[in-house]
Amino acid sequence: MNKQIIKLSKISKKFIKNNNTLNVLKNINLAINSGELVSITGPSGSGKSTLLHIIALLDQPTSGEVFFKNKSFSKSNDEEKDLVRKKGISIIYQHNNLLSDFTALENVMIPLLNNGFSWSESKQESMKLLNSVNLSKRINHFPNELSGGEQQRVAVARALITKPDLILADEPTGSLDRKTANEIFSLFLKIKTKNRAIIYATHNRELSNRADYKLNILDGNISRKK
Ligand SMILES: Nc1ncnc2c1ncn2[C@@H]1O[C@H](COP(=O)(O)OP(=O)(O)OP(=O)(O)O)[C@@H](O)[C@H]1O
Ligand SMILES: [Mg+2]
Repeated sequence: MNKQIIKLSKISKKFIKNNNTLNVLKNINLAINSGELVSITGPSGSGKSTLLHIIALLDQPTSGEVFFKNKSFSKSNDEEKDLVRKKGISIIYQHNNLLSDFTALENVMIPLLNNGFSWSESKQESMKLLNSVNLSKRINHFPNELSGGEQQRVAVARALITKPDLILADEPTGSLDRKTANEIFSLFLKIKTKNRAIIYATHNRELSNRADYKLNILDGNISRKK
């Protein structure tokens, strides 16, 4: 049986703005196992990015508990969360946040260097991965010298380079054409192993249907669709 990698217990998230309370997530319970490829759909503003950021331990829920590999992170400090993310969780942001002063190649190398790999090994592995997202001719470009889709593919490579157990992807193919989107998705399928879970938010029905199962967020509640 596959192991549980993520558990959310009674997660709520409220935002308070100008005296208005926005209940984005309401009492969400969710368990995701290693080996699963899961899509999250829902209207714009329904809370997909909010949920992914909470799962990534980047944002605190208003209430409830997040467990990663059966460990609760409610009382953990930022340092502990950073360490877990560095080793085991990667996120591809909806609006890619590549480091603007570093080239495509360096952006992908940095997570490996941070994990103690040598410069030459990091470079070699990063070039291989950039090649697999068809960017071998752009490795020395800075983010502002790349198209939106190229930046998104660098962000995908950067997220995959450390072979994390949990990959969270927020609209990873949002600015890609159909063919490139399919190529990125094929890459997800290729790296899907029994020890890894991949959760992606998307507005693309075709891609959401290719998940093992679909989650839908509506009015702060999450439900599973077949
Ligand atoms: N820091 C914040 N302060 C106040 N409101 C916020 C904040 N962050 C998000 N929201 C609100 O929470 C709601 C959920 O936002 P979220 O980004 O999670 O939606 P989403 O489902 O990812 O939407 P999209 O499909 O457009 O990416 C939105 O209505 C947004 O305006
Ligand atoms: Mg979003």
